[in-house]
Amino acid sequence: MAALSDTTGAPHARVLGVGAYRPSRVIPNSEVIAAIDSSDEWIQQRSGIKQRRWATPEETIQLMSVEASKQALERAGLTGEQVDCVLVATVSHLLQTPAIATAVAHELGTNQAPAFDISAACAGFCYGMSMAADMVRAGSAKHVLVIGVERLSDLTDVYDRGTAFIFADGAGAVVVGPSDTPGVSPVVWGSDGEHFDLIRQREDWRDVVGGPDKPGSGLMPHLVMQGNPVFRWAVYAMAKVAAEALERAGITADDLDLFVPHQANMRIIDAMAKAMKLPDSVRVARDIADQGNTSAASIPLALDRMIAEGEARSGDTALLIAFGAGLAYAAQVITVP
Ligand code: UT7
Repeated sequence: MAALSDTTGAPHARVLGVGAYRPSRVIPNSEVIAAIDSSDEWIQQRSGIKQRRWATPEETIQLMSVEASKQALERAGLTGEQVDCVLVATVSHLLQTPAIATAVAHELGTNQAPAFDISAACAGFCYGMSMAADMVRAGSAKHVLVIGVERLSDLTDVYDRGTAFIFADGAGAVVVGPSDTPGVSPVVWGSDGEHFDLIRQREDWRDVVGGPDKPGSGLMPHLVMQGNPVFRWAVYAMAKVAAEALERAGITADDLDLFVPHQANMRIIDAMAKAMKLPDSVRVARDIADQGNTSAASIPLALDRMIAEGEARSGDTALLIAFGAGLAYAAQVITVP
């Protein structure tokens, strides 16, 4: 048996820069309520959403990804050529193949960096963060770009009461790179496929196109969600995952400066913070009020806002936790760059 050589990477990994792209269309609740027989009051009370961002036709998945990445790279003091891998977490890139990540890697001027998409819905960004930190520590990449991006408006049925007011568009990105001290804690991740059907596309492409025996629907395969079971699952199951993430990071809630959960619903955010008994000093991300639920993009967008508004400072300790379709989930603690 031949002895193979192996790589070893940096002792630790950390986030080096954060960037974001918020699409230009601001959609207040008043614009979505007529089609779903709802009210501004109901939406705010049940979800905490006041308005959301939807992309224009020009604000493509690729454009939003590239803009958020350029910002993250600039803040990390790096150029596209220094990116060794591009991970794009998304469920709304409408081509099943090729991955949008390769086009993003090319446009950013990477040196033909490996690039692929991650399909883990709202958990996708935290999945990517974990993989990026592992790559840096294992030596398969020095700088990894992790992007969360969605154009959920493309997959939203504006007449569906259960989803039309929730989903939104945007992109967030981070660069993960080498560090002398730990800056991304071990991930706690998993999936609960027993609940595969709770959030899903209504139909697959065969149903859309149809066949000799059955005409196709001709309709976009929109997202549908059984919101209430997801809500209850998130509050019950995610508090445990969050506690485990703190334990694996070797800290307690008292050591946290920031709590940056997936921006699914303000009531879920509040219930999780309560269940975790977070001290009042922990600043909680509440980007959902103005941005809506952007699935894979929600955590980096929320983190970017906290940095921009001075709520998050360099060196702060932040707990990230994400959950969604699958049901897939992931959590880790990071140090703010
Ligand atoms: O990002 C991926 C993960 N996703 C999530 O974590 C989302 C989790 N779920 C949620 O955020 C919430 O379940 C929703 C915000 C989607 C819904 O809130 P809810 O408190 O679970 O409402 P519900 O579905 O239990 O409905 C309560 C009531 C019902 O009326 P009755 O039966 O009490 O008379 C619904 O018919 O509200 C009614 N309703 C609405 N009313 C006005 C349902 N949708 C609407 C609506 N406008 N859009």
